[in-house]
Amino acid sequence: MNLRFTEEQEMMRKMVRDFAEAEIRPIVENMDETDEFPREVIDKMGELGLMGIPIPEEYGGAGMDFTSYIIAINELSRVSATIGVILSVHTSVGTNPIYYFGTEEQKKKYVTKLASGEYLGAFGLTEPGAGSDAGGLKTKAVRKGDHYILNGSKVFITNAGEADVYIVFASTNPEEGSRGITAFIVDKNTPGFEVGKKEKKMGLNGSNTSELIFEDAKVPVENRLGEEGMGFKIAMSNLDAGRIGIAAQALGIAQAALEYSSGYAKERQQFGKPIGLQQGIGFKLADMGTEVEAAKLLTFKAANLKSTGKPCGKDASMAKLFASSIATKSAIEAVQVHGGYGYTKEYPVERLFRDAKVCEIYEGTSEIQRLVISKHLMNN
Ligand code: CAA
Repeated sequence: MNLRFTEEQEMMRKMVRDFAEAEIRPIVENMDETDEFPREVIDKMGELGLMGIPIPEEYGGAGMDFTSYIIAINELSRVSATIGVILSVHTSVGTNPIYYFGTEEQKKKYVTKLASGEYLGAFGLTEPGAGSDAGGLKTKAVRKGDHYILNGSKVFITNAGEADVYIVFASTNPEEGSRGITAFIVDKNTPGFEVGKKEKKMGLNGSNTSELIFEDAKVPVENRLGEEGMGFKIAMSNLDAGRIGIAAQALGIAQAALEYSSGYAKERQQFGKPIGLQQGIGFKLADMGTEVEAAKLLTFKAANLKSTGKPCGKDASMAKLFASSIATKSAIEAVQVHGGYGYTKEYPVERLFRDAKVCEIYEGTSEIQRLVISKHLMNN
């Protein structure tokens, strides 16, 4: 495996880092306080081609490889995990399902607008009674002539309320379990479709997380994605790659925790020398640095597999499992390194602490990642 980014990937990294420092860093604190969706930043990202990095140019994207997309999520998340998750959900599970499984007409109608940033995408799988057991979802879709009528609800939907297009999963044949699930492209203006309560979260402020409510929602048959019964496979295969995005987001949080901690440990003097030269703190930095490097290798190995068209499910789950656990750990350690100051809002590490935890929960909890990894290992 080549451990170096190509020239093109390195250019992407530098461009996104510069953008994140200039356009996102100044608004991060305010976004955390107000919980307002960063519409202006997302619009600028659309102008820069960041909303459709791995989508071919003919469908409105930047036509770059999957690794470049993961680099972008990582660089954005190093400054703001909120922006990282908005982009990850929009691309991995809001746009890619249509790009990979849509008809030519669906791609022309939706992917071009999503990839150019004109539309924002979202993904409606989780329900109040179906989280880890996604195949147990209860939202129903019944065909009536040239429409499907959807009834049910979804929870914890990232980008809800801000998105223009939702990939929604509903059962067209409840007796068949996960084989009876069908995917739909739901426009925000669909009659009978509403965005419900917005969650007040521990962190990731600025990223909207809300309920979706379907009451006799009328979705045209031409908005069915794939055949009836293919929905669960569409969800799972896109989540495989989606989990690499969350790994990159978690890695960004861990990198930020390390950077703030080493900076502080150089400046802060106790017992006559910088605290980083005291073994208690120095060893924490050593562990954080080693774990960041390990997470980087796992994340970019999984990204490389996806970029080269190879199966990536096991490696994506390994990357997400490891990177999310070290994001939480690094953020906790960063607060510890900063001592009393780290517990105040004067320093950014308490935000990292609040932002990190959800990486171990969404796009499949750490327990689900272990399940996926162990199934792969048993099947080898
Ligand atoms: N790719 C393609 N097909 C797959 C697949 C994959 N990765 N994984 C499973 N399938 C197929 C299987 O081959 C099987 O097909 P057949 O019926 O033809 O045999 C079918 O799907 C059912 O497979 P399983 O029996 O393995 O399914 P299961 O019910 O045991 O569930 C699970 C497997 C891994 C636990 C799955 O339910 C899961 O991933 N759960 C977690 C849900 C999740 O990640 N939710 C994230 C929500 S989105 C989000 O969080 C976005 C955000 O806000 C950031």
